[in-house]
Amino acid sequence: MPRKINIAIDGHSSCGKGTLAKNLAKELDYQFIDSGAMYRAVTLYLMNEDIGLEEVEANPSVLNAIHIEFKLDPMRGFYNTHLNGENVEREIRGMAVSGRVSEVSAIGAVRSFLVAKQQEMGEEKGVVMDGRDIGTVVFPDAELKIFMTALPEVRAKRRYLELKEKGIEANLDEIYQNILQRDKFDSSREISPLMQAPDAIVLNNTEMTREEQTRIALTWAKGVILAG
Ligand code: DC
Repeated sequence: MPRKINIAIDGHSSCGKGTLAKNLAKELDYQFIDSGAMYRAVTLYLMNEDIGLEEVEANPSVLNAIHIEFKLDPMRGFYNTHLNGENVEREIRGMAVSGRVSEVSAIGAVRSFLVAKQQEMGEEKGVVMDGRDIGTVVFPDAELKIFMTALPEVRAKRRYLELKEKGIEANLDEIYQNILQRDKFDSSREISPLMQAPDAIVLNNTEMTREEQTRIALTWAKGVILAG
């Protein structure tokens, strides 16, 4: 049996980290973990329980009541995020949570709480995790680190077409501005800003298809697995 490794995928918003992470996990028969979904689940919990951010900062133990799991939906073949036993996959992707998650993920107590859980999930290896601080903070010893990026114009166009395909009205310039804003926020926040780990390989997929990017990353992963 080939050895198992952990793969950390970080990068800018809307550049296809989740798609690549899912595809790699499928090809390697590894566990895919969407760390952004965990920040979204904490945000939903705090909103539902009406707990303010000052309260979390003053008393981080309020977070101990949060249990997050990823459960496979056998009918559709993908994992749903469960918060305290309830499937919240749809809710965490909605506008209400999306509008609050940046401030929640900037709170130190929230980050330490989730980083500890993410590190536990990676203890046995065989994990592909995507996020903003996976190669720098969560798995600084990950055997393969990929830093993804693409031109913001291209990311905006992809997101626009994706929404249009789903029948959702969207404005390309608004999406573009939102992407620039999120890039700035993610890269400039005080705690664990989005940063490329020095030993990460950059994958700029501006001119790549999903299939091409998966093929390239899979070659890297197999190379690392065999080299070990
Ligand atoms: O990847 P996403 O858009 O679902 O992430 C949601 C938010 O969580 C986003 O504002 C960035 C933040 N996040 C983070 O701070 N650290 C991570 N490891 C993953 C996401």
